[in-house]
Amino acid sequence: MTRPILGIETTCDETSAAVLDSDGAMRSLVVHSQDVHRIYGGVVPELAARDHLMRIEPVVAAALKEAGIERRDLGAIAVAAGPGLIGALLVGVTWSRASALALGIPMIPVHHMEGHIFGPVLEDPGAQPPFVALLVSGGHTLLIWVPEWGSYHLMGETRDDAAGEAFDKVGKLLGLPYPGGPAVSAAAASGDPRRYTFPRPMLKSLAGRRGGSGVGAPGDFDFSFSGLKTAVARTVMRVEQAGTIDVERPHLAASFQAAVVDVLAAKALAATAAVRCRRVLLGGGVAANRPLRARIRDGLGRRGRLFAGSPRLSMDNGAMIARAGLFRLQAGVGKGLAEATARVRIPGMVRWRPGKREEAVGRKPLPGSPPGRNSQ
Ligand code: KG4
Ligand code: ZN
Repeated sequence: MTRPILGIETTCDETSAAVLDSDGAMRSLVVHSQDVHRIYGGVVPELAARDHLMRIEPVVAAALKEAGIERRDLGAIAVAAGPGLIGALLVGVTWSRASALALGIPMIPVHHMEGHIFGPVLEDPGAQPPFVALLVSGGHTLLIWVPEWGSYHLMGETRDDAAGEAFDKVGKLLGLPYPGGPAVSAAAASGDPRRYTFPRPMLKSLAGRRGGSGVGAPGDFDFSFSGLKTAVARTVMRVEQAGTIDVERPHLAASFQAAVVDVLAAKALAATAAVRCRRVLLGGGVAANRPLRARIRDGLGRRGRLFAGSPRLSMDNGAMIARAGLFRLQAGVGKGLAEATARVRIPGMVRWRPGKREEAVGRKPLPGSPPGRNSQ
């Protein structure tokens, strides 16, 4: 394909469209962040779906205009088909299917988290595998070893709340606006991260192995954030009773952020040691967190590399979807997903097992999953 590709993202509360040339160069990106949810302090699925329906046409029209092309110039449409809110997903997928049919071009359903892996390369051509991908968003926390594009080895994931979700919930506890991530991070900038000692969940398993027989037992790279959130909730309640919340808010935010950053950075760095590759890719909305970036960059040292896109390309956007779609189209690996699906693994992802035969994660990879040594 030599014609441009359109990428559509409607998995949650961003309606986004982007146009990429067939060589991956970004020609346009338009993101509409829904604010209908703000007064509810979280995303309301029905409102999200309705707003996507209202916005998708004008957002696409703006993306095409910015790229200076007409609809008929498109060669393919890539759409985030899952995971996400089913009503929201259906808007993007139905729109894309109808448009692709009308234009006589292929529609490529893309996994949203695979899209996040393709975010940084849009700005930095060097953001290529091999790397350990730490994907941290409002719905997911994934640590994936990516030896090459399309080859995904799941090292760890959250057992309960996602990292972004923890930021959002703590933001709410502290009386900060939604989404909590940017607000907590801004409040933390003037706080003392050592004022409160919050738990660093699931770091012990790693610490116990340091210098031992090597990191890498199943579960070592998993995360858990709900206990940390509860610890913060208890402390906030105590502080509120004492009437000092306004003074303590920055310190609570900073102490919470320090705990999350400690855990995420320690696991990502231990993962690089386990796979013997000092390269980390950060994706998802929490990748915008500056202390997290700084900690990982420091830990990797001068011989390591950190790939992290600008906040615009770390958060949900249509350009990363178009880039992942282009990969699937050009590598001839077929469609990633079949339909709009609320909960689904990245097609072809296997569980990382050092020295052992890899095992498919969840269900069998779909036909057309990435080729290579992991395909079954
Ligand atoms: O990837 P994303 O835009 O949407 C999902 O796929 O969920 O991620 C959104 C998440 C939210 O939970 C938001 O609070 C968090 O990313 N976030 C941050 C920051 N900016 C956004 N978390 C921590 N620090 C930030 N600076
Ligand atoms: Zn996302």
